[in-house]
Amino acid sequence: MNILLIGSGGREDAVARKIVEKDNLYSVITNENPSVINLSQRYMKYSEENYNEIIKFSNEYKIDIAFVSPDEILNTELVNILRENHIPVASPTKNAAMIETSKEYMRYIMDKYRIRGNIENEVIDNYDDLKKFFNDNDREYAIKPLGLTGGKGVKVMGLQLKNKNEAIEYAGEIINRDKKVLIERRETGEEFSIQAFSDGKRIVCMPVAQDYKRLYEGDYGPNTGGMGSITDKNFSLPFLNDKTVEDAKNILNEIIISMRKEDNEFKGIIYGQFMATENGVKVIEINSRFADPEGINVLTLLKSNIVDIFLDIYSGTLKDNIKFDNRATVLKYVVPPGYGVKPVETELVIKDNIETNSFKLYYSSVSGELTGVKTTGSRALALVGIADSIYEASDIVEYNLKNITGNYYMRHDIGTRDMVEKKIKL
Ligand code: GLY
Repeated sequence: MNILLIGSGGREDAVARKIVEKDNLYSVITNENPSVINLSQRYMKYSEENYNEIIKFSNEYKIDIAFVSPDEILNTELVNILRENHIPVASPTKNAAMIETSKEYMRYIMDKYRIRGNIENEVIDNYDDLKKFFNDNDREYAIKPLGLTGGKGVKVMGLQLKNKNEAIEYAGEIINRDKKVLIERRETGEEFSIQAFSDGKRIVCMPVAQDYKRLYEGDYGPNTGGMGSITDKNFSLPFLNDKTVEDAKNILNEIIISMRKEDNEFKGIIYGQFMATENGVKVIEINSRFADPEGINVLTLLKSNIVDIFLDIYSGTLKDNIKFDNRATVLKYVVPPGYGVKPVETELVIKDNIETNSFKLYYSSVSGELTGVKTTGSRALALVGIADSIYEASDIVEYNLKNITGNYYMRHDIGTRDMVEKKIKL
């Protein structure tokens, strides 16, 4: 079959690798990712003005099904346009993607259908109400733009915001820019990610993952798109109990069912960012796509054919028997120096043929060749170790660093025994 993939970051490289196991890949690239280009029979460049070209390209190569991956593109008309042109798509429509692109919509669905895990929240659209809110309430809050933030727009009192005044100032900036701001009560606990395939009626969950968003080792510094991520054997994490994971999966399922009741069926990948708190599982955010980096961990483990899953998502016939390798994974991103603060573009040399059964290398925001890439200011290479324990998987990534030369930054602490044991003791 001929499969169209839209997007070409690290997550899409992982999707592309799965597609080419059995089928032909055609891609619409957002950056000149050498791996995605290398795997594609044909590719074209993405631009929001060339949707007609994407339809022509799809017709010319007789595309059987398309997968639109990045959040920014799911927030455009592309999925709707592909559908109108009778091209099957295994991704949510713009309306369904609102579960990610509008945090107001996500909280509305959770409020209306009384889904557990909701967080006390308020949308504010003017400075007077903002001041009144902070005069009347004395807790700590998270200040969030309503739309896409690339993982970097959320600021939390007690973390990035020192006091009420800083919170009011930041919330005011968001109102000035976006007209509205979302204020959510600050929750504390361990965060974790659950991604699931959804055919609009039901979900099939993927292994639980944890993402490390902070720039510096020990979880300090500014938030980034994600510096790395882990999954463990048996598809849960050593510091989460079964009930927590089960509750989170039920919440995701209820969201899908509720969206269907709203006549806004969600077909594609749904991904919940949850927090295990003293008062049970809380929903931090819901996204309409694979997580990055966590999507790369789970795609590395996926044993079932991804194209069959795409077809089932599209036709509403998703089955339970989706299989993953029962192993642990650790992903650490190689990023350009200064990433997240003042990035400097750089060049990296990669030794040929370094992949093994226990090590994979995915290409993200880079261009060039498989053995030599130019970075942008964003994440460059995702290194994934696969083993029977998280610690061993982390060691595999470190061991393989000798195959990459150049000036770069990486968080080495992700998945180490020290880090995981500290979390278990918490
Ligand atoms: N893991 C962060 C994100 O994909 O938004």
